[in-house]
Amino acid sequence: MWDYTEKVLDLFYNPKNQGAIEDPSEAGVAVVFGEVGSIACGDALRLHLKIEVEADRILDARFQTFGCTSAIASSSALTEIIKGITLDEALNVSNRDIANYLGGLPEEKMHCSVMGQEALEAAIYKYRGIEVEHHEEDDGALICSCFGVSENRIRRVVIENNLTTVEQVTSYVKAGGGCSSCAAEIEDLIAAVQQEKALTATRVAAEIATAQAQNRPLTTVQKISLIQTALQEVRPMLLADGGDVELYDIEGDVVKVVLKGACGSCESSTATLKNAIEVRLRERVLPNLVVEAVA
Ligand code: FES
Repeated sequence: MWDYTEKVLDLFYNPKNQGAIEDPSEAGVAVVFGEVGSIACGDALRLHLKIEVEADRILDARFQTFGCTSAIASSSALTEIIKGITLDEALNVSNRDIANYLGGLPEEKMHCSVMGQEALEAAIYKYRGIEVEHHEEDDGALICSCFGVSENRIRRVVIENNLTTVEQVTSYVKAGGGCSSCAAEIEDLIAAVQQEKALTATRVAAEIATAQAQNRPLTTVQKISLIQTALQEVRPMLLADGGDVELYDIEGDVVKVVLKGACGSCESSTATLKNAIEVRLRERVLPNLVVEAVA
């Protein structure tokens, strides 16, 4: 039995936005769908979008899926996240956003959140007349021929979800889950991404030191880097109590975080937010930061 959050179970038992969208033949409105997976392989998702053409905005989103509890919950979550936002904003929605909306997913089920993000991209690219197999995401060498997964797709999922093992990559995009002959290449790719991240972290740390020495305001990238480091210091204490925290976004001096596990449902989560997280971020990053939890 998988350890699902209450939100996952709620959206499984009471899915939102299930079904198709009929073409309304309304002036200024377009309907399109994007599809990923295949019923023969076990998981498939068709995401329908109703788009206000002039504003380039999603008016409605619905889904049809052939999948498990987490596929239904992830698809439902995705439709709730994207209703009302522009197509460009929707292209920034990551599988992590879907998983966060659900309060987390078992790692072995993360491919359901990836499937949602890919169906969203497929729908938007189709609407914009871009052949999915030619867009940037699918360029690059084919790493896993069993599941047709390219280098760029693995690279993206490793970066966005901070993956460190082949098993994790398999959980997210299935690559490596067949004959395993691609495992060594996936391992090399993970090592290359981690090395690039380490180099970037070193460069950002040097830039932060220079900015602080010269009394210059921090850039957003520098702030994010310092916030992530400070959150890593707080996490062991939260993990010990069955909770966790993850950076969601920053807007000016407001830091938005997702409280997970026991922290998300705990009555003293406001105290955790203010005493454990905000105090630490003010010490380590900037004294005027305000920390808010997103649902
Ligand atoms: S080539 Fe990747 S599992 Fe077979």
